[in-house]
Amino acid sequence: MAKNFRGRSLLTLLDLKAEDVRYLLDLAHMLKAERLAGQFQQRFRGRTLAMLFEKRSTRTRCAFETAFGEEGGCPVFLSSSDIQLGAKESIEDTARVLGRMFDCIMFRGFEQATVDKLAEYSGVPVFNGLTDLYHPTQVLADLMTIEESLGDVAGLDFVYAGDGRNNMANSLMIGSALMGMNCTVLAPEELHPEGKLVETVRGLAERSGAEIRITSDLETAVEGANVIYTDVWASMGEEEQMKERIALLEPYRVDAEMLEQTGNPDVLFMHCLPAVKGNEVTFDVIEGPSSVVWDEAENRKHTIKALMVASLL
Ligand code: CP
Ligand code: NVA
Repeated sequence: MAKNFRGRSLLTLLDLKAEDVRYLLDLAHMLKAERLAGQFQQRFRGRTLAMLFEKRSTRTRCAFETAFGEEGGCPVFLSSSDIQLGAKESIEDTARVLGRMFDCIMFRGFEQATVDKLAEYSGVPVFNGLTDLYHPTQVLADLMTIEESLGDVAGLDFVYAGDGRNNMANSLMIGSALMGMNCTVLAPEELHPEGKLVETVRGLAERSGAEIRITSDLETAVEGANVIYTDVWASMGEEEQMKERIALLEPYRVDAEMLEQTGNPDVLFMHCLPAVKGNEVTFDVIEGPSSVVWDEAENRKHTIKALMVASLL
């Protein structure tokens, strides 16, 4: 079924080519239509998914668990307080044991090296459900949501405002560059993305025709934008930095004035959620007519199902 996707992991979007993303998005649109038509298959019957969590989750956990379970598979939730991962047993040994018992593994946690090691040692497909560095499955849902609202993402102007060096900013830059969507990261200089990643992303963008812009200029950054995206100002594990982040990021809050500055009455507002209303986005924007955050949350499930169908079948 999948175009060379069988058996593959998703650790970062840097693992994918534009044609892989296109394939996964087409599959996700198809699976969503199928589900809305009330057609259920049993694609994962007899299969098992280990779900490893070092950090909390609502959407990612529920998306993986329901997508796998409703297709007849058996998802097993394992938090780091339940299992030995990195505590009394090395990641390598845990990975080899899980690889003998499960058909695939998803991981949410701190270090990217952990999810990379799980893939290296388990011998089964591993899906990154968020690390400090990347959140690739979220961006699949984001691209799907933009396509539903605006059609082809190539050539659109996408602006990410806020903490420009977190997992969302990193993955959104890569996804945009792959798919030919212009991406502006609007952030204070202290929170600009890492130079090496920007260089890599610009290399990808050369092939797709996307423009990748990193700026702190609040006056011009959002002009003509089709999408404005933001995320929390302190990610999981950084909570103690919240005070200093508020001081740095207050001017970058997405509010009605910022949407107006785009000059585009049809601009979309997006957020991966959970949101801190009043910090990175005002209540009226996230609850207003530009916001597509609930579609975006729902699409986590369809895109994650597509990823597992493509990798396992
Ligand atoms: N967007 C997202 O990953 O949400 P959760 O943290 O609830 O999984
Ligand atoms: N940047 C956020 C994303 C949550 C989905 C975090 O890592 O907490």
